[in-house]
Amino acid sequence: MKVSVSVLKEYNRLINAIKKTNESSADFLHVDVMDGAFVDNKKFPLEVVYDVKRISKKPLDIHLMVKSYDLIKEYAKLMPEYLTFHVEVIDDYTMIDYVKNLGIKVGLAINPETSIKKLIPYVDDIDLVLFMSVTPGLGGQEFKKEVVDKIKEFKKVAPSDLIISIDGGVNDKTIELCKYAGCDMVVSGSFITNSENYDESIEKLR
Ligand code: DX5
Ligand code: ZN
Repeated sequence: MKVSVSVLKEYNRLINAIKKTNESSADFLHVDVMDGAFVDNKKFPLEVVYDVKRISKKPLDIHLMVKSYDLIKEYAKLMPEYLTFHVEVIDDYTMIDYVKNLGIKVGLAINPETSIKKLIPYVDDIDLVLFMSVTPGLGGQEFKKEVVDKIKEFKKVAPSDLIISIDGGVNDKTIELCKYAGCDMVVSGSFITNSENYDESIEKLR
């Protein structure tokens, strides 16, 4: 299981959290960008993510909870490993093509209440699907178990090399559901960043 560490809840102690992630076995650093429109919160302005990139030794997995295509283009300039934006904000392939042409791996995130039908047209053109197991916008929420059946349904029709990731409320208990659903990767925030030893928590998710 790949593990991506979300440092959202450590926004006020960011450098410390990034350094702890650097020293851990984490695969990716997950950055939650919020525009105050797609979600109520506003976090991780571009200049902060440039600093995050400079300090991080882990590849960046950027999760854009934003509405505007212009913002997606701005964050693409950071050249992260994965750039994930929401299926709810697109109507066509414009943004997928734009990000792919830059040589960045593309992810589509899907909210708990959005049907997997919305993802189907894009499955051959993207690298990752990020299933939200909480309503996006805040760290530290409870895992919504309904996502498990949704992922299982999706896997019946998805290409086998499409990476399935999950985000929200992932901890040492809910990880069993993520494994049962067939996830390749998990995003975990508070479970890891609230712990003294990141590696001990990460190992419980592997
Ligand atoms: C929620 C974010 C998540 C969240 C994960 O909008 O996308 O990445 O910060 O944090 P935990 O693991 O605490 O739910
Ligand atoms: Zn996220």
